Amino acid sequence: MLDLLIHNATLPDGRTGMSIAVQDGRIVEVTASLDAPAHEKLDAQDLLVAPHFVDPHFHMDATLSYGQPRVNQSGTLLEGIALWGELKPLLTAEALIERALAYCDWAVAKGLLAIRSHVDTSDPSLLAVDALLEVKRRVSPYLDLQLVAFPQDGVLRSSGGVANLKRALDKGVDVVGGIPHFERTMADGAASVKLLCELAAERGLPVDMHCDESDDPLSRHIETLAFETQRLGLQGRVTGSHCTSMHSMDNYYVSKLLPLIAEAGVSVVANPLINITLQGRHDSYPKRRGMTRVPELMRQGVNVAFGHDCVMDPWYGMGSGDMLEVAHMGLHVAQMTSQSGIRQCFDAVTVNAAKVFGLEGYGLEAGCDASFVLLQARDSVEAIRLRATRLKVYRKGRLLAETPAATAALHLADRPAATAWMHPKN
Ligand code: FE2
Repeated sequence: MLDLLIHNATLPDGRTGMSIAVQDGRIVEVTASLDAPAHEKLDAQDLLVAPHFVDPHFHMDATLSYGQPRVNQSGTLLEGIALWGELKPLLTAEALIERALAYCDWAVAKGLLAIRSHVDTSDPSLLAVDALLEVKRRVSPYLDLQLVAFPQDGVLRSSGGVANLKRALDKGVDVVGGIPHFERTMADGAASVKLLCELAAERGLPVDMHCDESDDPLSRHIETLAFETQRLGLQGRVTGSHCTSMHSMDNYYVSKLLPLIAEAGVSVVANPLINITLQGRHDSYPKRRGMTRVPELMRQGVNVAFGHDCVMDPWYGMGSGDMLEVAHMGLHVAQMTSQSGIRQCFDAVTVNAAKVFGLEGYGLEAGCDASFVLLQARDSVEAIRLRATRLKVYRKGRLLAETPAATAALHLADRPAATAWMHPKN
């Protein structure tokens, strides 16, 4: 007897009329129209069932702090960093935990069940580190939270930067972070990349650095990151986040850089909502978009994922934990508006992001965890267009969240009573 049998599901790869059989929290079979005894049966009514969303880049220590102690007036990255510096002395573990747990509730409701969050290690008290380790423990029954030791003030630039980061790793933080473009000089930035990659190699940990988050075409720390990845044999374990300077780089240089990133097996995470908001701030007109070269990296075979980065914090006052909103912005900024481009943007917040995370048991195949989302959409393109309602969210076979279908009652003569904004079925 199966625990759960879903039938009439459409899958992200386009297969329709599919059945998904679940037993003991795992998918045991995915096949066309299976009929078998099950404790629970669910008719997906030809709607999309997709593996859950994954956010590969977030800042949970700052989330939902919007307006504390004040709002970012200029909206720039640097005022955001300064504002975060004003907020840090006011943080308490209790408030931080409460905000993070509230965000995780939002995430679960949106089918976002794995989040890689950076946590600032600059404060010697490591208050935020301890708080997010506690959050990780508390949410573990329903959400995978992975933490990156992130030296916001620069690992070399701030006194005690290296020691604080190492202490965070000793406490159980999962990934080595960095911010080379925020060090004092290009040389210090490169030195920080080398030092942090060596630390990761010593400890057998993955690396995820904020890399070249600027419009400076000569900010080339991603090159050093790819080189160090190869030198230390870290292929497949390293991610360059943001990489916005690549938007402004010389094309000839990029023609050399992309193969280097691909050969090194370095993943790249773009953060479309934040990149389009924070970059190009020194431009008059034309204003650069600032997001890294997503389709070009993908064509080169690089694993590219999209992150949310911020939700209601010193850098960004918008957001609700909806990775479809992230994908929606990503396809606009990258002009990936072909059907295949849109599907690639869906992958950027699902399978590609899971690869960055190193998530085991992810996917919609026999043997994978039964962790998936039923969306009010007929396919992944429609899911992004509508930022579709998450009708049901399952993790390891357990129903975690339900949202009623979006409909509108129309009070119009001779017109249908309701609409769900879905494309009429052919
Ligand atoms: Fe970030």
